[in-house]
This record gives sequence, C-alpha cells and structure tokens, in this order.
Amino acid sequence: MRELGVSTEVFPSETNPEKLRSARGLIISGGPHSVYDDASPHVDPLALQAGTPVLGICYGQQLLAQAMGGSVRKGDKGEFGLAILDLIEHDSRLFAGVRDHQQIWMSHRDVVEAPPAGFRLLASTSTCHTAAIEDPERRMYGVQFHPEVVHTAQGSRILENFVLDICGCAKDWNPGQRVKLVEEQIQRTVGDRNVFFFVSGGVDSTVAFTLCLRALGADRVRGVYVDTGLMRYGETEFVEITFANLGTGSVEIAHCEDQFLTALEHVREPELKRHIIGEQFVRVQERIIEDLGLLDDRWILGQGTIYPDTIESGGTAKAATIKTHHNRVPGIQKLIEAGRVVEPLADFYKDEVRAIGRELQLPRELLERHPFPGPGLAIRCLCAEADEPVTRVPEGWLMPVRSVGVQGDSRSYAPILAIDAFPSADSRLQDEATELVNRTANVNRVVARVTSREPLEKQHVYASSVTRGRIALLRETDRIVRDLTASSGFDADVWQFPVILIPVGAGESRDAVVLRPIQSVDGMTADSVSMPDELLSAMTARLMAIEEISGVYYDLTHKPPGTIEWE
Ligand code: XMP
Repeated sequence: MRELGVSTEVFPSETNPEKLRSARGLIISGGPHSVYDDASPHVDPLALQAGTPVLGICYGQQLLAQAMGGSVRKGDKGEFGLAILDLIEHDSRLFAGVRDHQQIWMSHRDVVEAPPAGFRLLASTSTCHTAAIEDPERRMYGVQFHPEVVHTAQGSRILENFVLDICGCAKDWNPGQRVKLVEEQIQRTVGDRNVFFFVSGGVDSTVAFTLCLRALGADRVRGVYVDTGLMRYGETEFVEITFANLGTGSVEIAHCEDQFLTALEHVREPELKRHIIGEQFVRVQERIIEDLGLLDDRWILGQGTIYPDTIESGGTAKAATIKTHHNRVPGIQKLIEAGRVVEPLADFYKDEVRAIGRELQLPRELLERHPFPGPGLAIRCLCAEADEPVTRVPEGWLMPVRSVGVQGDSRSYAPILAIDAFPSADSRLQDEATELVNRTANVNRVVARVTSREPLEKQHVYASSVTRGRIALLRETDRIVRDLTASSGFDADVWQFPVILIPVGAGESRDAVVLRPIQSVDGMTADSVSMPDELLSAMTARLMAIEEISGVYYDLTHKPPGTIEWE
C-alpha cells in the first residue's frame, strides 16, 4: 500500500470492530491456517458488515467467504507458484484495466467451494475454480492469489483499483520522507542513550547503522563485527574497509570461530543449529557488552532486522514460524521486552532498504551485495543422521537429506528429489520441477544432476554434521562460485546465489555442491534461474577439481515450495 502511496496500518485479526470504524478499507491478509483449524485467526463479522470495503487475499478470501455464509474445503491438490488467471466477468471494478488472461502467483491448498449468497465468481485458474469473487453491492472482494507479490503481473493494478477506486483513498504517503521519519523514530526510541551494533557487513545492518549514525552522531554509535568462523571468504576484510569508509573510525572485530564451531559439533537439525548460533551470538554479545562497559542502561542494541525477517520468524502473532531468525532468539527477545533494542528497518522490505541506502549515498558495491544470512555457512552445510542410500522413485531419485521449504505459508522439512537432466539455459527444467513437487508427496525441492563421479544409483547420504573441514570445503566452493559469477557478469542476473554442501556421494568423495542462483525482489518469493551453459560448465570443472567433491547439482525449485536457503 505504501508503494502505491497510501498510508496503512496493520492490526491483528481479532481487533475490535470499533477500532476499525474509521478505516476507508480493510484488507485481510493471507496466512498459514485453514479456516477450520481450532486456532485459526478470525475477524469479527461486525467489522466486515460495517459497510467498509473489504478485500480478502488468499486465507483472507477464505475467511471472508466463510464469514459471509459460503463454504471452504481442502483442495484436491495444492497450487504453489505461477498460474494463469482467466477472467470470467469483465465489468468488475477490482479488475478494471486488467488483461483477460494474466500471470498470477498462488500458494494455497484450501479453496472456496461455494461463494456466499450475493457474491459472483470473477476469475478462475486451471486448478482453482474460485480464484476471485465479489459482492459489488456490499463492496466485498476476495482473491485466492497474491496480488502483492511481483510475480502477479498486474497485482499493483488490482490493489490500486481496490484502494484508490473502490475505497477512495488519497495518496498521502510520501516515500521521500522515509529517512527523516526513521531518524525521528530512532531519536524517540533511543532517547539519551547510545546505540551499539553488531554489524555483519550486509546491507541491512549497514543501512541501520548509518541511519543511527545520522540520527545520533558518530560518538553515540558503536559497532563490533563478530567473526563466527561461518562467514564467507574475505568477509572480515570487506567489513573493515566498509566501516573505515563510513568515517566512523574502525569497527571492532571479535574473533570467535572456536566458540561457534565447538558449539555446533554433532548438531544436525536446522532449527537447533539456528538456535545454537543465535545463543552463541547472544553469549558473545553479552561478553562484548560487558568487556566494553556497555552493560549499563545508557546503551541499547541496534539491529538491522527487516520486515520479512519478522514475518517468517513468526513475529507477527499469527504467522507460522518458517525459520527462526537469529535476531529473534530468546536472549534478544528479552532485550526487546526491556525496551533496549532499536530496529530502524523493521517495517521495510529489502528493496526499500536498498532505496534508503541509495538516499544515504552508501556505495553501490555495498548496496548491491547479495544478501547473506546471519547464521552463515552453517545453514548451507547440510547434515544427516545416518548413512542411507539414494533410492529410485518413479519421478527420479530420492536423496534422504532434508531441506526446509514453505508450502501454503507453513514450514516443511522434506527429502530432495534429484532428476538426471542437464539444466541447460533453455531447458525450462524449473517448470518441470514445480510440477514434480506438486505431484510428489513429501518432497519440497528438486535438483538436477549436473555431474557426479558416480551415477545416482551408487550414491549415499552420509551421517555428517557441521565440522571445521566441511565449513572450509563449503567456503572454498562458495569462493569459486562467487569468483566466476562476478567475472562472468552473471552477478547482475541474480538476487542471491547460495552454494550448499550436501553429504551425498560415494567412496572418498562424500560431499556434493548444490548451486542455487535465484531471482527475487524481496526474498519473500523467489525464482530459480538458469545460467549460461558455458558458465555452468566452467564452474562445474573448477568445483570437480576438488577431490572431496562428489558432484554438482542445480536447485530448480522456486520459493515456494523451497525456501531460498536450504535450512
Ligand atoms: P529463505 O531461506 O527464508 O530466505 O527463503 C529469505 C532471505 O532471508 C535470508 N535469511 C536470513 N537472513 N538471518 C538473516 O540475516 C537469517 O537467519 C536468515 N535466514 C534466511 C536468506 O538468505 C534470503 O535472502
């Protein structure tokens, strides 16, 4: 809504209808629940019947339909990813100026079976009959797809039709004032205290740090970089140079490799890894805070948390926890509750953070850096409980190493399907992968085998955990991939390019590399993208020159159903 220039406020679903009376329109968002779950969020029907225009999106459409007397049921199959919307009615104000057939983006299993009395069907997809409904008299609208994501080609037009035309909202939000408003907000939150940052060298924490510098002055803001031993090659040097150039004096470097790697020994479960890394961060932070004399109330912690981090960590009351972000572990949560944390970017998406960074005149090479997750290489170094063979299934080969995914807004944790097909740039294997995940039970990710020392039927998954050796191996493969990505210019075609190590192989070579180049706007959804064949061949040759590497695979999975990171 802000991108459209309209002010909005976010309220929990149970908000008293009285509080919503002055709104010009209501949008009920999507969510991971089924309207029939006991604990599913509901909206007071009085809020819906007050005459205010209502737009229900995804779960919101189902909730609206149910509240108005329609029915919702579990769909025969899920629909996760791109679909084509076919308009059935052509005179709806919601779809004014929208093409008859257009690309949209779906993420659901439940469907509206019968629209409530007074509603008419506006549009369908091949999988979802009730893709959009309306009751123009009562100005109630529902869409099963997500108009708010970039993959819905004319999503902004649909939202604009709702807020500007149907609700009659004025354009009263000016993004040019963003920096000033955030600075004022920092000054209010911090008061006369000082701010202390653990910087990562990433876009978010650097932009948040710079905003605090501007709002409070250099002598009230301090930064420490923690080398966890889980960072990429050359990262510490990059951070030193970046902060020296911000004119803040130097950022302090804390070397903590041993502490993190020791704590991770024998740990295999992704959420446990995240928790342990988070807890170690808190311990390091506490130690540093104490050592530097920042314990007293005059200092508070600054963080570069952005909006998607909060949503996917279950930070909004009803959103499912897909991955626990380390900015939200219990130690930090306590500081938040004590009012000792400032998060200037908590309301913004990544693209907005970059825009703010440009306004602050931060260097391009920093702003255009690919995002890198706080828990670092640990969540790209996959582990397995036991030795198990790779097995043949009708759709390909099942690798019993599990990765995290997101389906219908909930978390999944499932084995990998490998297919034996070279992912050449014109192969369109990504489309096939979407189909395969929708069709194959209990799989959330599909990889293509680029090459391997042994055929798939001879491969095993090996019991493994995060070790110094495996992290070093991953760091080296990541460095190779990054070098070639930069020198070939492929950098500009991807939003992020995780390199993952999976404990799959045969003989002495027991780890394989997975390439995961993706395109995205905000990290909330993503497309697996193809790379030029020559680049893939060059990369594969360099990676296979490492003896321990058993093979190279290519992740074909969009988000959803796979998340960008594997854990
Ligand atoms: P997923 O894997 O959830 O990732 O699709 C979405 C984006 O978030 C990044 N990510 C993280 N960033 N701490 C971070 O700072 C984390 O714990 C974390 N986990 C995921 C991920 O790299 C991608 O850009």
